Amino acid sequence: MRKPFISGNWKMVGDSQSSVALAKAVAEGSAGIAGERVDVAVIPPFVYLQAVAKAVSSSAIAVGAQDVYFEAKGAFTGEISPAMLKDVGCTYALCGHSERRHVIGESDELVGKKVTAAINGGLLPILCVGELLAERDAGKMEQVVERHLRTGLAGLDAEKMSAVTIAYEPVWAIGTGRTATPQQAQEVHQFVRGLLAKMYSKDLAQETRILYGGSVKPDNARELMAQADVDGLLVGGASLKADDFLKIIQASV
Ligand code: PGA
Repeated sequence: MRKPFISGNWKMVGDSQSSVALAKAVAEGSAGIAGERVDVAVIPPFVYLQAVAKAVSSSAIAVGAQDVYFEAKGAFTGEISPAMLKDVGCTYALCGHSERRHVIGESDELVGKKVTAAINGGLLPILCVGELLAERDAGKMEQVVERHLRTGLAGLDAEKMSAVTIAYEPVWAIGTGRTATPQQAQEVHQFVRGLLAKMYSKDLAQETRILYGGSVKPDNARELMAQADVDGLLVGGASLKADDFLKIIQASV
């Protein structure tokens, strides 16, 4: 019912040549299943978006941005608007990735503004939520995830919410090699779906795709995807190697 969705967050890695080569390899290697049995997106650094979008233009691979600003235009040095991202071929935009929250210092409120602006600008936001290790150890996982979800979706009606994908990314599992167990992922995904049902409706909660992210690799992708409420994966490190990312795509169908 929910089509799997595999996305590759390339973070601040690569150059123009390697980005285009990776995008082409992903497009070629997933031809026939991408778009049909699984939605696939690559999320390169801003400066390579246009080149990557061109490289995958004849395939079913979508392109996403790692961030977006909430204002439409003006004196916001260094920021990129939703319309600019659309203009260079983006379909998706990550909002509130944990590195934006914890390294760059974005607030929950700012993330919420970005989600709304992305939708209003015709992009599909991927709202990232997830707790730090200290928060999990202190028994605050649900509290943090709920806060991220409620502030991230603040002010969105059901119609706008239907444009949103949620990504659960426990911060302690990102880039650490320490993946959440499939059971841990399922537990939080079920919690998120339950919250969405309360905030919106059961139907909307059932339709919303919830991705897992954090040290996803070819050898754990299948087991994660086998969980009832894991609808896709947000892959960092392993999305930088075409072979690994293609194996993860294969494991999702
Ligand atoms: P990772 O990153 O797969 O390298 O842990 C995931 C992410 O940050 O989206």
